[in-house]
Amino acid sequence: VEVKLDNLRIRAATIDDIPGIVEVANTSMRLGEDVGFGGTGVPVNIRDVESEWKAPNLWKNHEIYIAELDDRIVGLVKLEDHVSELELVDIDVPIEFQGKGIGTRIVQFVEDRGRRRGNSAVTCGTSRNAEGVPWKSLPWWKHLVYVVTHE
Ligand SMILES: CC(C)(COP(=O)(O)OP(=O)(O)OC[C@H]1O[C@@H](n2cnc3c(N)ncnc32)[C@H](O)[C@@H]1OP(=O)(O)O)[C@@H](O)C(=O)NCCC(=O)NCCS
Repeated sequence: VEVKLDNLRIRAATIDDIPGIVEVANTSMRLGEDVGFGGTGVPVNIRDVESEWKAPNLWKNHEIYIAELDDRIVGLVKLEDHVSELELVDIDVPIEFQGKGIGTRIVQFVEDRGRRRGNSAVTCGTSRNAEGVPWKSLPWWKHLVYVVTHE
């Protein structure tokens, strides 16, 4: 898949975006890959998200923003504003769109928002499994110059 990052648009999600959001949430990794890392191994379904959605863009009390390429949703980020810090709760890009710069653009978008809201940091949490192996995104976060503050 070719991605023209100039055409990427990142915006607050709406209830109409739920089918695309569910698709992205279910295709950013192999089903069950995150079991042992805090994941459930159960795919998300549209009806559950619709019942958990609060206007304008809250799902389970996380603010949802999406990245769109033409009319396709190709990225998803969940935020929680703790005032002092803006927490990036989760970020997903579908496997076929990974490694093309979309995730980096989303993180930049979140950092810009945090700066404008007056948060003093953007934070995110990731996990280790029982064997102590970190979730595979840790090197990516380090590449983006995020530092481990505590375990
Ligand atoms: C993590 C995720 C959001 C990253 O999004 P992405 O669109 O694939 O990331 P990007 O294409 O923007 O990353 C590209 C950059 O990161 C670097 N990079 C990619 N994978 C890397 C890795 N494993 N280790 C170090 N650097 C990496 C690339 O070299 C590139 O660097 P450059 O911009 O300097 O050229 C995406 O892979 C994903 O959805 N993964 C599954 C869900 C997940 O793990 N989410 C994080 C939960 S904490």
